[in-house]
Amino acid sequence: MKALLEALKPNDPDRSLALSIDPQRLPAHVAIIMDGNGRWANSRNMPRVAGHKAGIEPVRITVETCARLGIQVLTLYAFSVENWKRPRAEVDTLWRLLRIYLRKELNNLMEHEIQLSAIGRLEGLPIEIQRELHAAEDATASNTGLRVNLAINYGGRAELVDALNVLLDEARDAGRLSELRIDEEAIASRLYTAGLPDPDLLIRTSGEMRISNFLLWQIAYAELYVTETYWPDFRRRDLLEAIVDYQKRERRFGGLKRSELNGKRWSGAVAVPTQ
Ligand code: FPP
Repeated sequence: MKALLEALKPNDPDRSLALSIDPQRLPAHVAIIMDGNGRWANSRNMPRVAGHKAGIEPVRITVETCARLGIQVLTLYAFSVENWKRPRAEVDTLWRLLRIYLRKELNNLMEHEIQLSAIGRLEGLPIEIQRELHAAEDATASNTGLRVNLAINYGGRAELVDALNVLLDEARDAGRLSELRIDEEAIASRLYTAGLPDPDLLIRTSGEMRISNFLLWQIAYAELYVTETYWPDFRRRDLLEAIVDYQKRERRFGGLKRSELNGKRWSGAVAVPTQ
């Protein structure tokens, strides 16, 4: 948070918004469905790929702002397992833009101690994209700040299928298949996001009210925030507004509101997931 305020000039219009954020109650994990690139381009009579190109700047801004705020994890939905249905030229453009981003941003990632990771069925990606992603992951592996997950060739159902197959393979290899019992921890620890906190805040741009197969397991208790803004127009202010809104929510995790507890037992911690 301090780093964000230092980066803002005294007369920056985002300053008062940033000051209204409680640094003690930041979401640990922010996940974003970056949507509306095509509509942004269409509304300007431009080809869809122009929308994707314009979508790089908000990625850069969002990553840097999350790092400066002190958020622990940011997960960006960049390409879904369903996105292969798009025209070849559009898919190829997305790979080209991803390579440009990785090359141009590496210095910035290092400067802000950002650790980059790719999640999804990465083995299904073009080999040169896999190489570049692994190179960026290796280069940033020992960074200790924000963890950025790029969800690429990602699907929430595919992730669950993969986790369950890992469990089955492990049990089979250990000769314990007949004894296999599965609990929540067994699944969570085999997801692509194993070891990371679940998203507290899920942002979707462009006004669509859908989850689109994103982090299905992990968003069980996430607060949802949908903005009408198309992703290419998403700026620091939009992110700060989402966090301010998030901090107004009362998260109950299946429990009761503070007021409903009526002076009865109150553990002091809201974050008690109940089944
Ligand atoms: C959704 O908009 C966006 C995508 C499928 C791709 C997201 C890619 C970027 C933001 C650019 C590069 C990314 C990185 C990580 C460098 P849409 O095409 O579905 O928009 P529409 O719903 O208006 O058609």
